Amino acid sequence: MALKLSLLAMLLFLLLASTSKAHASVFDVMSATYSAKPGSDVSKALAKAWSDACASPSRDIQVKRSNFQRSLPIEMQVRGTLQALADAGQLTRPDTWVGFQYIDMLTLSGGGTFDGQGALAWGQNDCHKNKNCKPIPINLRFEFLTHSKVQDITSLNSKNTFQHLTITAPDESRNTDGIHIGASTSINITHAKIGTGDDCASIGDDSHQITVTDVTCGPGHGISIGSLGRYKEEKDVTGIIVKNCTLTNTQNDVRIKTWPDSPSPSTASDIHYEDITMVNVSKPILIDQLYCPYTRCDQKPPSKVKISNVSFKNIRGSSFTPLAVKLVCTRGIPCENVELTNIDLTYGGDQGPLTSLCSNVKPRITDVIKALACATSSLVPLPLSKK
Ligand SMILES: *[C@@H]1O[C@H](CO)[C@@H](O)[C@H](O)[C@H]1NC(C)=O
Ligand SMILES: *[C@@H]1O[C@H](CO)[C@@H](O)[C@H](O)[C@H]1NC(C)=O
Ligand SMILES: *[C@@H]1O[C@H](CO)[C@@H](O)[C@H](O)[C@H]1NC(C)=O
Ligand SMILES: *[C@@H]1O[C@H](CO)[C@@H](O)[C@H](O)[C@H]1NC(C)=O
Repeated sequence: MALKLSLLAMLLFLLLASTSKAHASVFDVMSATYSAKPGSDVSKALAKAWSDACASPSRDIQVKRSNFQRSLPIEMQVRGTLQALADAGQLTRPDTWVGFQYIDMLTLSGGGTFDGQGALAWGQNDCHKNKNCKPIPINLRFEFLTHSKVQDITSLNSKNTFQHLTITAPDESRNTDGIHIGASTSINITHAKIGTGDDCASIGDDSHQITVTDVTCGPGHGISIGSLGRYKEEKDVTGIIVKNCTLTNTQNDVRIKTWPDSPSPSTASDIHYEDITMVNVSKPILIDQLYCPYTRCDQKPPSKVKISNVSFKNIRGSSFTPLAVKLVCTRGIPCENVELTNIDLTYGGDQGPLTSLCSNVKPRITDVIKALACATSSLVPLPLSKK
């Protein structure tokens, strides 16, 4: 019983877009055939409509976990609000409320809302200090999709992470990434508005050619690469562009974070941040290879993630802390080919003068005032950083 309709009227169509829209069949879950009713469990109606739309009823459709697996083009429109049960205990896949897998040419649209009813789950989430914590379902999970599009969808109060488009959850909801991308190639996120308790967008290992443009973020932790280097055999990250984004009251803006003591080496390269506006951001520009959000990490072995070909260009606005630029790379594997160009950040508080810190990196610097151009560089080992 994963899905429940809210009291708002909801219309849900499944369109089988075989040739063109004109020939597509419509499967309306509110129709007499499927008879989904506002305020009741719609998962059966939804699964039935989906399987009819697929014209191959034997596909793996599991009502409880609402996992949609198929391999033909299909459009799913959600209008109104789909509401999860507050208690996630009944999901057969405990980390996912609504999941889409193995679909070529999926379109998910319609202006509707996936309301994860996360308030209860956030209080029980101890994943920030417990490595073996219980999985908490994310609202929407997309796996093994190709040529697909998700647009005009709102994800609200996810129990865990959120994905795609208007995304809001309070600042105090922990570990609730807006959009997390991992093991993916050629994904564009654009015109999204994200406010959450963790990263607005985070890009994990094995991600390539990811473009994030015209995104506004806040509250939250900005747009991050990582964290990387925590697990065995992580794959490289290449080709990330973040452009024309605005971050407001976020804790970190544009950052690359990697864990110390990585079990195996990997690389993160060709990463470009450009035309970014910051409003009152705590750490506007950050490379952090001493990332350790838990109470303890083994800090002696340095991170084995090699960072190279990174640029920060045309970045302006205000910093909430005096340390506006911090580039702390890994001991023994310095960052290579890092560029800071046209950085214009101000600090208006009383915690000291605007400054910057660089360690194990020698960036190329153009059009950056002295205070922001590696004003201090640390030769002594730095302490691990929390969050
Ligand atoms: C995704 O972004 C890249 C880089 O900006 C661009 O070349 C490509 O056309 C975009 N793809 C789509 C489908 O919008
Ligand atoms: C930048 O993004 C904003 C939305 O955040 C959009 O309104 C604007 O048109 C974009 N500018 C360019 C030059 O793409
Ligand atoms: C600036 O950010 C800090 C820390 O996130 C927050 O406490 C403060 O309220 C923000 N200031 C404004 C004017 O929003
Ligand atoms: C970094 O950029 C240079 C050209 O500027 C290129 O030759 C090199 O292959 C790039 N390295 C990586 C790891 O992408």
